[in-house]
Amino acid sequence: MTATGPAAQRVDDAWLGVIEDAAFVVDAGRIAWLGPRSLLPTRYDASAQVDVGGRAVLPGLVECHTHLVYAGDRTRDFADRCAGESYETIAARGGGIQTTVDATRRATQAELVAVGAERCRRLLEHGVTTVEIKSGYGLSYESELKLLEAVAALRTRTPQRIVATCLAAHVVPREHKADRSAYVAMIVDRLLPEVAARGLARFVDVFCEAGAFTLAEAVEIFETARGLGLGIKVHAEQLSHTGAAARAASLGASSADHVEFVTASDAAVMAANDTIAVLLPGAGLFLGAKHKPPVQLLREAGVGMALSTDLNPGTSPTAHLPLMTTLGCAWLGMSPAEAVAGVTAQAARALGLDDGTGTLRVGGPADFVVTRWSAWKRVPYEMAGAPVAETWIGGRQRL
Ligand code: NIG
Ligand code: FE
Repeated sequence: MTATGPAAQRVDDAWLGVIEDAAFVVDAGRIAWLGPRSLLPTRYDASAQVDVGGRAVLPGLVECHTHLVYAGDRTRDFADRCAGESYETIAARGGGIQTTVDATRRATQAELVAVGAERCRRLLEHGVTTVEIKSGYGLSYESELKLLEAVAALRTRTPQRIVATCLAAHVVPREHKADRSAYVAMIVDRLLPEVAARGLARFVDVFCEAGAFTLAEAVEIFETARGLGLGIKVHAEQLSHTGAAARAASLGASSADHVEFVTASDAAVMAANDTIAVLLPGAGLFLGAKHKPPVQLLREAGVGMALSTDLNPGTSPTAHLPLMTTLGCAWLGMSPAEAVAGVTAQAARALGLDDGTGTLRVGGPADFVVTRWSAWKRVPYEMAGAPVAETWIGGRQRL
């Protein structure tokens, strides 16, 4: 199988299309003109010009994978893992995700909106103008809806553009352990039709892993999602190989996320279906993972690569998306161009956004960041630096 589509194109400095000494014009929240400053048409009003002093301007960052609506924290799990216990054994004894589910179920919707807004604010400080947010710490019909309604409420509490994903299939909740098929049936028969009818999510995600959901369960959920007109994402090949990345890709998934254990044949199916690999080095680092996502294999297969924080309490409690570009380069072997594309254009593709989000182009949204430096490569280079001086969304300065 050969790779098709833009994913097949190698991402390098030329791919980024950097314009030196550039200017652009914003009109009604969109980019009306873009090019070298020397070519700026005189018809544009000089009185409204902003001079950023030669600093690099990037597309607004796109954070394509978060679990930021949750209550409580997981400091206890963290200490247990520091003492040598594994993520899987903590989860198997009822800690892990279930701990966050218990705290999140107890929280009111207003409390969840408040903590979610605070985390969106931290993302804004790191230049994020579009953010994907998953449910997945409710794990019942009522609580998953409560989370997705909280995500909807966040749209009025934060300036960022939000893409919602239903991750009811995160883990099987405690009360369904002996009867997991009833939980899957609830998702398929009741929850997803309600979510689709109310427009509460654009995507459906499944955590396919031993201890979470099987491939057969994931496929049933994906087929239902497709029938309802919802997009597909998958947490795949994170701790072991399940075949979920290729299967989800063949069903039209926009992204397969984690993919530490992805194989060359999986990657070929992903490339052929334009399924983006979302790499989450924060989670790998925080879990002390021995396996890294195989960047060279994905690159050779022509799979588009995005980077994300995975912002969540258990495996990646960080909103520092620029740091992920450093880890993408220094730890995973991406190039600076791949890393910057990974938090902009490629992340937008992982969200199925083809309106110019994650790029700077005429007609696209005027979402951009002004960095502190003249060289864009300092974004991945400055480890845990603060590259963003200003964040603009729809032509309005929001930070
Ligand atoms: O993406 N892999 C599953 N979900 C999250 C972890 C969630 C948690 O531990 O609370 C992840 O790493
Ligand atoms: Fe995740």
